[in-house]
Amino acid sequence: VVDIRKFYTETGMFTYDPGYTSTGSCSSAVTYIDGDAGILLHRGYAIEDLAMHCDFTEVAYLLLRGELPTAPKKTEFEKIITYHTMVHEQLHKFYDGFRRDAHPMAVMCGVVGALSAFYHDSIDITDPIQRMIAQHRLVAKMPTIAAWAYKYSQGQPFMYPRNNLTYAENFLHMMFATPCEEYKVSPVLARAMDRILILHADHEQNASTSTVRLAGSSGANPFACIAAGIASLWGPAHGGANEAVLKMLTEIGSPDRVDDFVKKAKDKNDPFRLMGFGHRVYKNYDPRAKIMAATCHEVLDELGIVDEPLLEIAMRLEKIALEDEYFIEKKLYPNVDFYSGIIFRAIGIPTSMFTCLFALARTVGWISQWKEMIEDPDQKIGRPRQLYNGATKRDFLPMDKR
Ligand code: ACO
Repeated sequence: VVDIRKFYTETGMFTYDPGYTSTGSCSSAVTYIDGDAGILLHRGYAIEDLAMHCDFTEVAYLLLRGELPTAPKKTEFEKIITYHTMVHEQLHKFYDGFRRDAHPMAVMCGVVGALSAFYHDSIDITDPIQRMIAQHRLVAKMPTIAAWAYKYSQGQPFMYPRNNLTYAENFLHMMFATPCEEYKVSPVLARAMDRILILHADHEQNASTSTVRLAGSSGANPFACIAAGIASLWGPAHGGANEAVLKMLTEIGSPDRVDDFVKKAKDKNDPFRLMGFGHRVYKNYDPRAKIMAATCHEVLDELGIVDEPLLEIAMRLEKIALEDEYFIEKKLYPNVDFYSGIIFRAIGIPTSMFTCLFALARTVGWISQWKEMIEDPDQKIGRPRQLYNGATKRDFLPMDKR
């Protein structure tokens, strides 16, 4: 009998790397992270500069095309994106098939996957023009699809995109306006939304991006690949963490209960983890979390919220964890999700929509990475191997002998 485990390990050709902690799955020029130094660059530009000086469409252009746009190029790109913001009218009916209490991420997975059934002129991945149209469509339609998932859950009529608004303003309009009432978009809130989208735009080979690449490596169409990315993002260890952070802060309930929860997070016999803390790559403060914390204060100031108990709890949690031996030794720092939920809540975005916003922003990164992969001459179908740990070959037993 061949000992398969021995075979795999003794050939010397097999790397066993659960969670791919040290496996480079591709080469990429989109995003660079130095996790020890807490550095994040997109196409060579520091996230701090992009978040402070650009808007989301500029960053989308940068990720997709490799360079920051000139003013005329930016105008042209915005025109293309606004041209594609509507979704096919029949997709209204598609929403009707979901229960009203469906999680909006479930709706997003379904609707985005279904785009390939509606846009047959952008699913041939061998045609560069079709690939480009698919990229534009996805970036343009995600705010509409996400906002409609929310409107559907509220039983409110869908609001159509407004092409005179910026990307972030348009999303807020489709979320909060009604046919009876305009939504006056505050420039501070629109800027905060824009910044949040920039901070989530890409993050190299995380679980959802790797999922998009893996799905795309078989030649699947881009809409199907992005739907796969949305599914992967949904989990609480990934994009679902921002929703989990807010639930955790609500459960803690008061700053004087923080110590108990920190203790619980350190207990090896308790599966509880501090949500919004820790990162596979960052072993230092996540640079996005710093910008997010500053934005959180700006938003609360703008809205005149002087007393936000969840912010108080979050700040105390951060302080205690950063001074605690356990968190210092394991290099666990706040990640991008730690403060984003408080900002969303202040803007009026319901908790169930938090991960949808992440998906909306990350679509730019996913589709940029998908494009890069498809254009890579070395691209192969993704096909990891396994370390087999089941039974060795054995004799078949007929039913009456088992
Ligand atoms: N709270 C308490 N302990 C933690 C936490 C946490 N948030 N995160 C990690 N640890 C501990 C683990 O228990 C483990 O301890 P051990 O070495 O004694 O077994 C050690 O730190 C390493 O943890 P791993 O799970 O092996 O680290 P990994 O790199 O696989 O996980 C992850 C990273 C999933 C983000 C993890 O830190 C976590 O679950 N954090 C909470 C969820 C979260 O905030 N996710 C968002 C990530 S950012 C994003 O996706 C945008």
